[in-house]
Amino acid sequence: MKWTFAAAFLAARGLASPVPAPDVDAYRLRVISSEKSLNGQILTVQDGLIGVFKSVKAPTLEVYASPAARSDQVILHTYPTSDKVLALVGENDLLNLSTLEDPTVKGLRPNSTLDWSFSMDRRSPPAAEGRPDTSNHLMYTKRAGKWVAMPHGGKGDYVIKFRGTDGDSMIIAVDLPAQIVYERIEY
Ligand SMILES: *[C@@H]1O[C@H](CO)[C@@H](O)[C@H](O)[C@H]1NC(C)=O
Ligand SMILES: *[C@@H]1O[C@H](CO)[C@@H](O)[C@H](O)[C@H]1NC(C)=O
Repeated sequence: MKWTFAAAFLAARGLASPVPAPDVDAYRLRVISSEKSLNGQILTVQDGLIGVFKSVKAPTLEVYASPAARSDQVILHTYPTSDKVLALVGENDLLNLSTLEDPTVKGLRPNSTLDWSFSMDRRSPPAAEGRPDTSNHLMYTKRAGKWVAMPHGGKGDYVIKFRGTDGDSMIIAVDLPAQIVYERIEY
C-alpha cells in the first residue's frame, strides 16, 4: 500500500468525497470461523461494537489505514466519514473491537485497556480466483491472544473481541475462535 499523507489528511478532516482519492485504499473486514453462521460474514458496526448482527440492520464497517508510531502497525479510520478509529477497549484479558471517536484527535491517552494500532498482515498466496480472499489478516500484535466471536444479546448476534492469553488464560465456553481478514473495496 502506498501511503498518501495528503489524502489521509483530507479524509481525516472529512473533506474527502465519498469516492476515495485514487490511492487511498478502503477495506472491509470479514470473519473466518468454523461456526457456519459466522464464517465469511462481513463485519458491521452497531452501537460502537463490531460484529455480525442478524437482529438489526447494521452498516458495513469500512476503514482506511494511516501510519501508526511503529512502522509495522497502522491506525484504521472509519471510511468515508473518518471521525472514528478502530480500537480495542476493555479490561483484563477481554478487549472489545470497537469504533471510538478518534483518540488521536481527542487527545485521550492509551492505557492497558485502550489501544488503536493494528497490523495488516499480508499473506500469500492470495485466494484462488472466485473464492473469498482470506490471505490478508488483521492482527493485534502488542500482546499474546486471539480474536474471538462472542454471542451478543441472545438474538443470533456476535461481537468480535480480542482474548488475551497472557497470564492465567481461561477457556471460555462462549468464545468462538475467529480470524479477521481484510479486503480492499473496489468502487
Ligand atoms: C464491551 O462489549 C460488551 C458487549 O459484549 C458491552 O456490554 C461492554 O459495554 C463493552 N465494553 C466497553 C468498554 O466498550
Ligand atoms: C485506563 O484503564 C482504567 C482501568 O484499567 C480505566 O478505568 C480507564 O478508563 C482507562 N483510561 C482510558 C483513557 O481509557
